[in-house]
Amino acid sequence: MADNGTATTGTTALNREVQQSLDNPPTDYRELVDWVRGIAELAQPDHIHWADGSEAEWTRLTDLMVEAGTLVRLSDEKLPNSFAAFSDPEDVARVEERTFICTKTEKGAGPTNNWEDPTAMKETLTKRFNGAMRGRTMYVIPFVMGSLDAQKPQYGVEITDSPYVVCSMRIMATIGTPVLERMSRDKAEFVECVHSLGAPLQPGEQDVPWPCNPAKYIVQFPEDRAIWSFGSGYGGNALLGKKCYALRIASAIAHDEGWLAEHMLILKITDPQGESHYIAGAFPSACGKTNFAMLEPTIEGWKAEMVGDDIAWIRFGKDHTPRVVNPEAGLFGVAPGTGWSTNPNAMRAIERGNTIFTNVALTDDGGVWWEGMTDDIPEHLTDWKGNDWTPQSGRPAAHPNSRFCTPIKQVEILAPEYDDPEGVPLSAIIFGGRRKTTVPLVSESFGWEHGVFQGATLSSETTAAAKGAVGVVRRDPMAMLPFIGYNANDYLEHWLNTGARVGEENMPRIYYVNWFRRTPEGGFAWPGFGENSRVVKWIVERLKGTAEGHETPVGVVPGKEDLDLTGLDISDADLEAALRVDKDEWLNELPGIDEWFARLGDVPEVILEQRAGLEDRLRNS
Ligand code: GTP
Ligand code: MN
Ligand code: MN
Repeated sequence: MADNGTATTGTTALNREVQQSLDNPPTDYRELVDWVRGIAELAQPDHIHWADGSEAEWTRLTDLMVEAGTLVRLSDEKLPNSFAAFSDPEDVARVEERTFICTKTEKGAGPTNNWEDPTAMKETLTKRFNGAMRGRTMYVIPFVMGSLDAQKPQYGVEITDSPYVVCSMRIMATIGTPVLERMSRDKAEFVECVHSLGAPLQPGEQDVPWPCNPAKYIVQFPEDRAIWSFGSGYGGNALLGKKCYALRIASAIAHDEGWLAEHMLILKITDPQGESHYIAGAFPSACGKTNFAMLEPTIEGWKAEMVGDDIAWIRFGKDHTPRVVNPEAGLFGVAPGTGWSTNPNAMRAIERGNTIFTNVALTDDGGVWWEGMTDDIPEHLTDWKGNDWTPQSGRPAAHPNSRFCTPIKQVEILAPEYDDPEGVPLSAIIFGGRRKTTVPLVSESFGWEHGVFQGATLSSETTAAAKGAVGVVRRDPMAMLPFIGYNANDYLEHWLNTGARVGEENMPRIYYVNWFRRTPEGGFAWPGFGENSRVVKWIVERLKGTAEGHETPVGVVPGKEDLDLTGLDISDADLEAALRVDKDEWLNELPGIDEWFARLGDVPEVILEQRAGLEDRLRNS
């Protein structure tokens, strides 16, 4: 743990209650307590509470939030122990333009991140956090990402003034007493995570249901392994174990230690012979990871189970086998588009309760609804902004980035080995984005370096998962653009080096998919969702060497006859539109790739060679 330069700047003495609490902490881990004290001196909370992670604590905090108007309790019959939260309309998604990677040099953060000098940023944050928790309770949440029984458990401690964050973190990670005990026993290193809504209360001031601050800072200090987040209470901005730690900080740790921390789902697929494979998939936010992770195969005899739906840590053992773990304990899934027809597994998990919904609509009988949940549209709802809503309202009832936060153990098709501290062996990696044109349903890379090139140029039309325009083609390397905690060029180099070190023959094979290609009429060419199992089957058979495909300039692509289309109602024209590799479309793609590489500036030579190879193949085919 490095000193963040803020711990000694406390200006005012602590109130007696906080002082006493810090003098009698629930741990003998001195460095931890000193760090907590430093933050308390700076932020000046009225109370302090060490989260134990218990059921009783959850009940107390959710009761408190219901009273404060932050949460609405949902019908116990429909959704037991579940709640709906409604955020400030200005605090609804990750704020990429306010996300900073503070490395010693600007080059360390690279061309794709916002960089600030760490010393200057610490000064800014010290000012922002000064007194930021006045009138509030400071919660201390010890947590671990991944298993507490891992060889080296990845600990963190989040300090926050948001009870919504405490309850959400309890769903998303292992938190509380068992973690604190193990951490304290081993005097283990932990990632320092400091979060404040930035909305102190004056004595007697009435609180609002969703306090936050118009000025937002989501700041990573990868070299210090520290995170400071200010002003937002939502999702990835505030649940610091998730994107900030398990991706941004972990990617920097992974770079140093020789593994990969990736924005990937993990799927277990078992064929009719009972043989299982594990496949990871990197799709940008709101491009189908959670849906794909909960796939219900439509082909006879194939079984899919879920290991993870958002984050994958891939390590390489002594035998060079890639092994992957899902470091999370919950789902923080996009609600709209998740429905009984598209993702029944998610719906069943949610129905078991213990869920916090954010920015969905409320039904009149104490349930929730969002666009795409059911085919029938309710006659009347309360929309996410609290207004009356009818199908005639002409606006969405749920925010497009509304989410459900549900314990992963409620997923019926969760693979029993999902929390194996050693992880599961990884056979294939799939890259995919939302592209209306150009990118075929599936292609297999020619090898590791070509696959890394495919990942490096992965592109997608933007969605509502981040603030900004929707529908613009954006390059998103390995679906990690907003999450690489260091220089993107070094990140690509790290992928190449890892392949070279571990040996191509040991690495997972790489595939590139696109469920979102359109027909000339504008509809989706491929039905997607459960039908994607047909693509998975082709991938598994390729791994086993039993499926055919034809070489195209962009990779090996199945023909119609190579896919199992039994029982699928799809026209030849649609299938053709889904699978087609069009030379002109791809030649048109090159300037976009070149523009992207120009922005990166320092692209590894091997990737540039792959770019040249693609053009050669296109021109000579
Ligand atoms: P984050 O959790 O933000 O990282 O996103 P995600 O990748 O998990 O996205 P999610 O699975 O929640 O997908 C969201 C959107 O993709 C929804 O609108 C779905 O309807 C749509 N979607 C998912 N799979 C498919 C598919 O196979 N075909 C089509 N057409 N749409 C899909
Ligand atoms: Mn995600
Ligand atoms: Mn998801």
